[in-house]
Amino acid sequence: MSFYLLLSLFVTQVLAIWPLPSSMMMGEEVLFVDRTVNFIYNGAAQVALPQPEQMPFEQDLNLFISQQGNYGHHNTSSQKVISTAIKSTTQTLFEQNFVPWKFHPRHSDFEPAMNASCNYIKTVYLKQTEADPANVTKPLAGDVDESYSLSIATNGRATITASSSIGIAHGLTTFTQLFYKHSSGAAYTPYAPVNIKDAPKFQHRGLNMDVSRAWYAPADITRMIDALAYNKFNRLHLHITDAQSWPIEIPALPMLAEKGSYREGFTYSPQTMAYIQDYGASRGVEVILEIDMPGHTSSIAYSYPELIAAFNEKDWSTYAAEPPSGTLKLNSSGVTEFLDTLFEDLLPRVLPYSSYFHTGGDEVNVNAYNLDDTVRSNDTAILQPLMQAFVDRAHTKVRAAGLTPIAWEEMLLTWNLTLGSDVVIQTWQSDEAVAQTVSKGHKALVGNYNYWYLDCGHGQWLDFYPDASQAYYPYYDYCAPLHNWRMMYAYDPLEGVPANLTHLVLGGEVHIWSEQTDPVNVDRQVWPRACAAAEVLWSGAKDEHGQNRSQITASPRLSEMRERLVARGVGAEPIQMPFCTQNGTQCAL
Ligand SMILES: *[C@@H]1O[C@H](CO)[C@@H](O)[C@H](O)[C@H]1NC(C)=O
Ligand SMILES: *[C@@H]1O[C@H](CO)[C@@H](O)[C@H](O)[C@H]1NC(C)=O
Ligand SMILES: *[C@@H]1O[C@H](CO)[C@@H](O)[C@H](O)[C@H]1NC(C)=O
Ligand SMILES: *[C@@H]1O[C@H](CO)[C@@H](O)[C@H](O)[C@H]1NC(C)=O
Ligand SMILES: *[C@@H]1O[C@H](CO)[C@@H](O)[C@H](O)[C@H]1NC(C)=O
Ligand SMILES: *[C@@H]1O[C@H](CO)[C@@H](O)[C@H](O)[C@H]1NC(C)=O
Ligand SMILES: *[C@@H]1O[C@H](CO)[C@@H](O)[C@H](O)[C@H]1NC(C)=O
Ligand SMILES: *[C@@H]1O[C@H](CO)[C@@H](O)[C@H](O)[C@H]1NC(C)=O
Ligand SMILES: *[C@@H]1O[C@H](CO)[C@@H](O)[C@H](O)[C@H]1NC(C)=O
Repeated sequence: MSFYLLLSLFVTQVLAIWPLPSSMMMGEEVLFVDRTVNFIYNGAAQVALPQPEQMPFEQDLNLFISQQGNYGHHNTSSQKVISTAIKSTTQTLFEQNFVPWKFHPRHSDFEPAMNASCNYIKTVYLKQTEADPANVTKPLAGDVDESYSLSIATNGRATITASSSIGIAHGLTTFTQLFYKHSSGAAYTPYAPVNIKDAPKFQHRGLNMDVSRAWYAPADITRMIDALAYNKFNRLHLHITDAQSWPIEIPALPMLAEKGSYREGFTYSPQTMAYIQDYGASRGVEVILEIDMPGHTSSIAYSYPELIAAFNEKDWSTYAAEPPSGTLKLNSSGVTEFLDTLFEDLLPRVLPYSSYFHTGGDEVNVNAYNLDDTVRSNDTAILQPLMQAFVDRAHTKVRAAGLTPIAWEEMLLTWNLTLGSDVVIQTWQSDEAVAQTVSKGHKALVGNYNYWYLDCGHGQWLDFYPDASQAYYPYYDYCAPLHNWRMMYAYDPLEGVPANLTHLVLGGEVHIWSEQTDPVNVDRQVWPRACAAAEVLWSGAKDEHGQNRSQITASPRLSEMRERLVARGVGAEPIQMPFCTQNGTQCAL
């Protein structure tokens, strides 16, 4: 009995797909696929273009600019979603695949023999049953049906059915995860026949990436988008400005990035932004921009010092959570004009690719307004109505541009602002914040920093003078310890949310802040731990019996996903040593 249990455990453990589909049945027959495979989308043959080499980034960017015009005021089409997914599929299968030796007993002969009687997949049929909604590549939560089904018969007939192009793309992602690299150069699946039906649990599945505190080249961001799409994440929230640097170019306010960026050239032009947004949209990853305000704005002071109060105070900890201090003045017509210009320039360039705009609102420090010559007070009774007016103005602009506002939880829960029912609240400080947000009737995003902040646990980045040093020893950071994947995996977005309000939890985001993250370590800071959140958001935190999902079955599957990410050029950390993954049962307690 226990022998069969172990055996069946071992068999299920090798099933590769991450995140876990809603339902799947697989067999044990081998099927091959090679570069001659055809893709037929609703009856029309598609060009698979298996590219031996990826197009260099600059060339791809230049091509995009020449096709779209400088400002890229064009949205992303369904056909582009399909053709991008097919290209990515062939590239993954034939260029970026891996030999799964880590998942077979040492020195075993696991590779299936190839001979004349082998069965091949000759054609992958893609069947989209409904026309895409007009905004399929820039949806609000719930606009797009992301479900799909996938079947592979032992005779080699493969079919992916979905009601949207995004569903087809998800199905193709799953398809690639069934295949391993064969020494012949082809790819094979040992799991035929396959029958999968799949749909996400949550509509908003994102990563928040801080590209202000450290400079990330566009190619670092598109590499992130690829990895997100491969985990069926559907949102990339770019925290694109903060106190430390202002990298986004605003043509109507050219000094902002010229002076506020870290270095000449460390900026995102409108063309580059359009490229990044389109790159995400083509892969089912909606890029959402956040201009954090009124706090976290001191980088504006490099170009418009008159708009910022308490800029770079020596005693910064009185005025901000981290240096440099500074906040947009709260009762200033200059700030109003500045924001009008900023919004009128930026928002129309966001609109083709997203339905959201994030106006920030976290960690506003009241003492900074003691130094604000338009207010000169830190009394919340005075500040609160000004904050209400400030946020109302911003959200009115966002709505007028055709976008839906997102704001950090403090605006609702600390400042008690009255916000439109359309405003999505991004919580981060606690599970109670989620419950409070939905109890006020607002839609919520989760991402409790005690579980889903990926940057935690690397120690303080502040330096301590000798007399302060002792007090901070051994220099843990505020959100230590590092949140390992098992902890991230155990986090339930619906924890503490009454059953009749769970529909207001749209999903959530994991967060990578960049005080100690940059392009060199971002891959391993994010991957594969973010995969744990991807599965919680796609498959739900609980299994079919309502229990926490088992690490025993998740771990080898996640190890496989890690190998797939590495094969695709992402520097993801290992989950376990090969000793564990080669057996599958002996590294458990
Ligand atoms: C041919 O290859 C298939 C798939 O790898 C295998 O199942 C079969 O045993 C092989 N047949 C011969 C004659 O080697
Ligand atoms: C997206 O399209 C659907 C139907 O086509 C519509 O119901 C929804 O309101 C649209 N959303 C936006 C943001 O335009
Ligand atoms: C995208 O562009 C097409 C063609 O210009 C248009 O029909 C469609 O409404 C646009 N969709 C959105 C969401 O803007
Ligand atoms: C805001 O500024 C106006 C003048 O621009 C002033 O009359 C008003 O008292 C200020 N409000 C506060 C709360 O300081
Ligand atoms: C407000 O400012 C006063 C004067 O600087 C200070 O004593 C007080 O602690 C501040 N209040 C808060 C809530 O920080
Ligand atoms: C918001 O409400 C809470 C609870 O009633 C209160 O403690 C807090 O002081 C209020 N905040 C402001 C800015 O008025
Ligand atoms: C299930 O996960 C929750 C966190 O969401 C944790 O508090 C609880 O201890 C876990 N239960 C078991 C049985 O592991
Ligand atoms: C949700 O259920 C609670 C009881 O658990 C009830 O008090 C509340 O009125 C319900 N809210 C809604 C919006 O139905
Ligand atoms: C896996 O480990 C167990 C326990 O050490 C051992 O009995 C078994 O033979 C190993 N299986 C393989 C395939 O290595």
